[in-house]
Amino acid sequence: ATTGSDGVTPREGWSSRSAFILAAVGSAVGLGNMWRFPAEAGANGGGAFVLFYIFCVVLIGLPILLSETLIGRHGQASAPESVRKIAAESGKSSHWDTLASFGVTGAFIVLSFYCVVGGWVLYYVGVFASDLVATGLTGGAFEGRPAEDVEALLPGLFGNAGLMVGLHALFIAITFYFVSRGVSSGIEWVATWLMPAFFFLFLAITIYGAFTGAFSEAVAYLFTFDASKLTGPVMLAAVGQAFFSLSLGVAGMMTYGAYVGRDVNLAGTSGIIAGADTAVALIAGLAIFPIVFAAGLEPNAGPGLMFQSLPIGFQNMPFGSLVGLLFFVMVFFAALTSSVSLMEAPTAWLKEKANLGRPVATLIVTVAAALLGVLAALSFNTMSDFQPLGFLPLFEGQGMFDVLDTVTSKILMPVGAILTAVFVGWIAERRLIDSENGLSGPLERFWLFLVRWLCPAALTVILIVGIFPSIL
Ligand code: PFF
Repeated sequence: ATTGSDGVTPREGWSSRSAFILAAVGSAVGLGNMWRFPAEAGANGGGAFVLFYIFCVVLIGLPILLSETLIGRHGQASAPESVRKIAAESGKSSHWDTLASFGVTGAFIVLSFYCVVGGWVLYYVGVFASDLVATGLTGGAFEGRPAEDVEALLPGLFGNAGLMVGLHALFIAITFYFVSRGVSSGIEWVATWLMPAFFFLFLAITIYGAFTGAFSEAVAYLFTFDASKLTGPVMLAAVGQAFFSLSLGVAGMMTYGAYVGRDVNLAGTSGIIAGADTAVALIAGLAIFPIVFAAGLEPNAGPGLMFQSLPIGFQNMPFGSLVGLLFFVMVFFAALTSSVSLMEAPTAWLKEKANLGRPVATLIVTVAAALLGVLAALSFNTMSDFQPLGFLPLFEGQGMFDVLDTVTSKILMPVGAILTAVFVGWIAERRLIDSENGLSGPLERFWLFLVRWLCPAALTVILIVGIFPSIL
């Protein structure tokens, strides 16, 4: 076994190839797929956004995913340390580690607001559990209550600042528990047991939805390409969603890559991770939008979409309370396997940098992210008027929660990805990259072309037209 930085204790790592795949898919698949993807697709007009998103996943996300896992595996350390090692071996400046320090900061910020949404999921688990007790096993959810009542659950939660903060704290505390236990006994355990269960239930719900809701309307909405809708801001939103969903640009996948054994083919596993992640996002869209249209809801309802439309769908479903409860338990699992990866990136860094034990490093990250998350939670109620960057067009009308989301998905992630592409494509020595990427022949040349030219160029253009749309 390889050893850790002291050269004696074995270094932490995944116990097998499939454990890595499950953990990485667990990191990728989460609230980004089920909650953020439908909300962003709806807010950005549907088809054009969705198709551009798929384009970004294949031609930008996938090559960057391979680049990040490759950096991690070669470095076998926290993200900044891995970058520094590769830079040193290539005879380049150690300052390149800044790219991963940005990333670690980004992961920390995402963690803070991600756990707020994790708290909403816990709330719905509670609501469905008590409904199941009240209405019995066979009944639909919230029987006999108008759809407006079901829709009103989320605003009801938003109005209760104490409950929002409490649930956020509970979610981040659960994340803390698993990360503090370590890579193979904590993080890996969650992923191996919970991800397969999640996939199974999710598919079942979608198949049911395909037979009952406004399915064809949803398909048309999600997949009709209207070029006039592809504006700069829509493109930036799509690329940001692709990164968010694939856990890229914030050192998450670099950190997980560091625990991968030498025998794993990183190109192949990257393909599996991106494929599974995109499939779940599209299935989520196909599960949620039929209900949105059938119930006459607005597709651009924003962050509430998943939390409002699906519970309405569960109303008319046989065994609806039970299915609803199972569904939100599964979303909770999927969110947890992502939040552990978000917490792991800054934890691995702090542990190494300050030479701390894992539990202490995890605790420091948890407390700091929890405090920032409180501001995000309060932006839905008592602090809704606080719009710290409202004077900039990109952040117009945004409270803390939206500011943290925009800063990460529309700035830190794309910038992190540009730097990663340049680093792997131009800075790191070819020999070293060749030995890690698991590709050969034309495919390897194509990947190098994407990393060297297409990714940096396309991302720079998208950032500019997304932030300054008047240029177009
Ligand atoms: N990919 C996760 C999701 O879609 O929910 C969110 C995420 C996890 C982003 C880990 C970034 C990260 F490093």
